[in-house]
Amino acid sequence: MKVIQVGIGGMGNAWINAVLKSSEVEFAGFVEVSEAIIEEQAGRYNIDRSRIFKSLGDAVKKIHADAVINVTPPQFHKDVSCLAMDAGLPVLSEKPLAGTLSDALAIVHKSDETGVLHMVTQNYRYHVPIQTVKQVLDSGELGKIGAVTVEFFKGPHFGGFREEMPYPLIIDMSIHHFDLMRFFLDSNPVSVYGRSWNPPWSWYKGDASASVSLKFANGAVVAYNGSWCSNGQETPWNANWRFECEKGVVTLKDDQVYVEHLMGVEGSEGFRNSLHDEVALVPPFAMEREAQAYLLHEFYEAVTSGKAPATTCQDNIKSLGIVFDVVQSFATGEVVQSTV
Ligand SMILES: NC(=O)c1ccc[n+]([C@@H]2O[C@H](COP(=O)([O-])OP(=O)(O)OC[C@H]3O[C@@H](n4cnc5c(N)ncnc54)[C@H](O)[C@@H]3O)[C@@H](O)[C@H]2O)c1
Repeated sequence: MKVIQVGIGGMGNAWINAVLKSSEVEFAGFVEVSEAIIEEQAGRYNIDRSRIFKSLGDAVKKIHADAVINVTPPQFHKDVSCLAMDAGLPVLSEKPLAGTLSDALAIVHKSDETGVLHMVTQNYRYHVPIQTVKQVLDSGELGKIGAVTVEFFKGPHFGGFREEMPYPLIIDMSIHHFDLMRFFLDSNPVSVYGRSWNPPWSWYKGDASASVSLKFANGAVVAYNGSWCSNGQETPWNANWRFECEKGVVTLKDDQVYVEHLMGVEGSEGFRNSLHDEVALVPPFAMEREAQAYLLHEFYEAVTSGKAPATTCQDNIKSLGIVFDVVQSFATGEVVQSTV
């Protein structure tokens, strides 16, 4: 399968490397608007400059391709993805689906109207620690999930679009964690309430810290606390998670998964405590492919044999919907009933 990659800057490297390592997918060409990035990447990957175009419209007229990988910043996702789908080319797009809800809905509409696949790269679902947690939750050994706590603290100085956009943490980063909530819980939120703020030392224009409470249809309540301008010990990109379950607790801490099982209750009347067994480290789940490699293979299978991927835009709009419901709650100070 031949692909055109649009955007070959920062995250573009991960996709160039994934395609170069793949035995199923190869490059037809590239699209990039920045001369400096073209110069740098053509040299780094030994790309013939005649295969790099300044617009996707130009590229599709001049070269044959079977699909497009969209690695542009969120504000360009709609134009690039819709142009590709109008040309009949399936799209594998970086998250977030789009930078605004109306752009995201336009992408879903275009995919429905043209019947062309649009899939979002929620690569966090396909990390080993995440899959390990999912195996434990799905085994049923801990019963129902009642509550989840998620903590995410980092202090990256990215420069670029993230430091200019509104709500950079929630729109550009927490989309991964919100998507993981849907993945872990097999459920969608019914309502959200949140507060965001920008600490005095923040180097972002938009709010870089937030606290959100989400109630899911299966009854689980999630408490999410995060910051992208933390100046101390960091959590992993996957965040730290604690699942309070009927028959025990699952914890993802520093990318290690631990489980505790309820063993009964001890003590005398008036002061009784739940007893659990030793906190046990869960062996990592073995994966043949991870992250970008997993998604690229899933995309290849979808394009070549019609097998539906998990993170189509039609599904992913439900994850992005959480982002914009949360933003609405920040703006109004109200609980927001889920809309998507
Ligand atoms: N999944 C992940 O873990 C992850 C990690 C980082 C970034 N991302 C996502 O990847 C996307 C890109 O982020 P980035 O960090 O690579 O940004 P970036 O700014 O480093 O790179 C984007 C590139 O796209 C180019 N570009 C912009 N508009 C274009 C257009 N219309 N046509 C062609 N090229 C265009 C820019 O010149 C730049 O080279 C974003 O949606 C971001 O959220 C995902």
